Order: sequence, then structure tokens, then C-alpha cells
Amino acid sequence: MRTIGVITTLTAVFILAAVFLASANSASNSVQGKESEAGQAAFKESCVTCHGTNGAGTPLGKSLKAADLRSPEVQKKSDTELAQTIAEGKGNMPPFKETLNPEQIQAVVKYVRELGKIAENTR
Ligand code: HEC
Repeated sequence: MRTIGVITTLTAVFILAAVFLASANSASNSVQGKESEAGQAAFKESCVTCHGTNGAGTPLGKSLKAADLRSPEVQKKSDTELAQTIAEGKGNMPPFKETLNPEQIQAVVKYVRELGKIAENTR
């Protein structure tokens, strides 16, 4: 009977720890998740026509000489440079400072980083 008591206690401790870890984890995920969702939403709305959902570039984007957003050339630029390009435009890319607020631009820069990471992991 004592062993069963110990096992029950241990099981309860494990369950509590698992629940605690899971909730701590999902709390931090949802903060990150929100920002990357905002970035993804803005990207889908404003960028996919030229850059495509994965950042590689659509035929239209390529005809305008849009860079592959996952490429090292783009990924090596600083967040500030990317945010500047998105806000002010560059070459054939139109400016987005009228369409996206600074928070959305930051979120979209993060999303461009995610596209770069996904590409890196699948290379
Ligand atoms: C009308 C087509 C078009 C749309 C829409 C568009 N882009 Fe671009 N983008 C381009 C072109 C063309 C370039 C290449 C500009 C150059 O280097 O001359 C480019 C370049 C870029 C670069 C690389 C910048 C650099 O410094 O090399 C980033 C990052 C980028 N776009 C992000 C975005 C994001 C984020 C959005 C949506 C908010 C977006 N673009 C919407 C056409 C577009």
C-alpha cells in the first residue's frame, strides 16, 4: 500500500510539472505567435503578389527584379535596412509606410527572417 501511495504522489508531481511547463511554454509561444501572425498577415496582404508566400518571388516579382527574400544577400542586411526598404521602397518596390504602421513593418521584418530560417532548415 505504501508503494502505491508513493507512486500516486510521484505521478501527481509529474502531472503538475507537465501542466506547469506546458502552460509556461504556451504563454511565451502566444506572445511570439501574435507578432509572427501579425507579420504573416501583413506579408500575405501586401507582399505575396511580388515575393510569393515563401519569399522566393512570383513571376511578377522576378520580372521587377525582386530579390529572393530567403537569400543570404537579403538575410545579411540588418533589421533597420529591411525596415527602411519596406517603409521607403527600393527600385521597383513600392513604399509601404502609408499602408503599414511601424509595428507592422517590424513584424513583417521578423517574418522575412522566419522565411530565411525555414529555407535554411530545408536546404
Ligand atoms: C510590386 C512588387 C513588390 C511588392 C508588392 C513588394 N516588393 Fe519587396 N521588392 C520588390 C522588388 C522589385 C525588390 C528589389 C528591389 C531592388 O533591389 O531594386 C524588392 C526587394 C525587397 C527586399 C530586399 C531589400 C534589399 O534591401 O535588398 C525586401 C526585404 C522586401 N522586398 C520586402 C518586401 C515586403 C516585406 C513587402 C510587403 C510589405 C514587399 N517587399 C512588397 C518588389 C515588391
